[in-house]
Amino acid sequence: MSTTLAPASPTTSADALGTSAARARSAVLEVRIHEDPGRFRVLTGDRPTGRLHLGHYFGTLRNRVRLQDLGVELFVIIADYQVLTDRDIADDLTAHVEELVLDHLAIGVDPERATVFTHSAVPALNQLLLPFLSLVSVAELNRNPTVKDEIAHSRQSAVSGLMFTYPVHQAADILFCKANLVPVGQDQLPHLEVARTVARRFNDRYGDGTPVFPVPDALLSEAPLLLGTDGTKMSKSRGNAVSLAASADETARLVRGARTDSERHIVYDPAGRPEVASLLLLAALCQGRTPEEVAADIGSAGASALKRTVTESVNEYLAPVRARRAEYGRDRAYLRRVLREGNERARAVADATLAEVRTAMRSHY
Ligand code: TRP
Repeated sequence: MSTTLAPASPTTSADALGTSAARARSAVLEVRIHEDPGRFRVLTGDRPTGRLHLGHYFGTLRNRVRLQDLGVELFVIIADYQVLTDRDIADDLTAHVEELVLDHLAIGVDPERATVFTHSAVPALNQLLLPFLSLVSVAELNRNPTVKDEIAHSRQSAVSGLMFTYPVHQAADILFCKANLVPVGQDQLPHLEVARTVARRFNDRYGDGTPVFPVPDALLSEAPLLLGTDGTKMSKSRGNAVSLAASADETARLVRGARTDSERHIVYDPAGRPEVASLLLLAALCQGRTPEEVAADIGSAGASALKRTVTESVNEYLAPVRARRAEYGRDRAYLRRVLREGNERARAVADATLAEVRTAMRSHY
């Protein structure tokens, strides 16, 4: 019991946070997933800040569908409380939430098998935050590199308490449904470490020999580095991203305006020619080939030929996604039903977990 707020144990040391350890572990997990997908429950999700783009798609979204289709149980959280850390709620939250549901349906997340839900609709999930906060020290919260980075880039003048504690809230997102697998990019690894720490400490303190929570694993995705059309990080707020929902014409316009360089001969050289390399990579991902092959096709035909190839590849690849998106988009009642049913399912799971937590904490009155 005295271990509750003890300094980091070997498994939470800086080394365990290292990407290479997570990558090695992820390779082992991939094998296990293929052997027995039914043993895994995945929780992952996003902040509802608008439409998702190709960076999201090739970084994480298609991996969700892949896991679902392998037979892993999938929970997708729309983190509508987490957006409060850095956005005005006045941004049209309902519309943003619906866009996220639409994007997921369009890429093939199946609401019959997967649970898509919002934070704010699941009271028992949020209630876990309080006991969880008691298991984490202020010094630990202070050290989180992803939060530090977000604070450094925040447009808000003061750091809110929520900004500081949201990784613990995220631990509740993961643990409420006893997810044992969390597909993440590198920036989310520190948050997953918080969830692992909370699970261990809760089990140590209240488990009485039987762990209440599984200690979840990160499934580190090999996110390809796609740059935005201006050569910087792809991001909706920078207007440099092709969203899944963009029309074929919008896509053509964005790609035509993309930054390249003055060398006519097209080769794949990520270090020396990052903008050209990113365009090649995007076309390659859509075509299911390597960027070197795409580069060889184009050769000395130059940047305009490269851009034509990228536009055609993206538009062809996304055509079915966009068609489904348009179809679902016409049926708002269906969207709302998907979310309502997802929220109901998440509530039932969260209520059962909270009941166990109360029993473990001897607060079942
Ligand atoms: N923090 C994540 C992001 O900004 C979103 C998120 C919220 C999440 N809760 C989660 C991701 C739980 C994985 C697991 O993208």
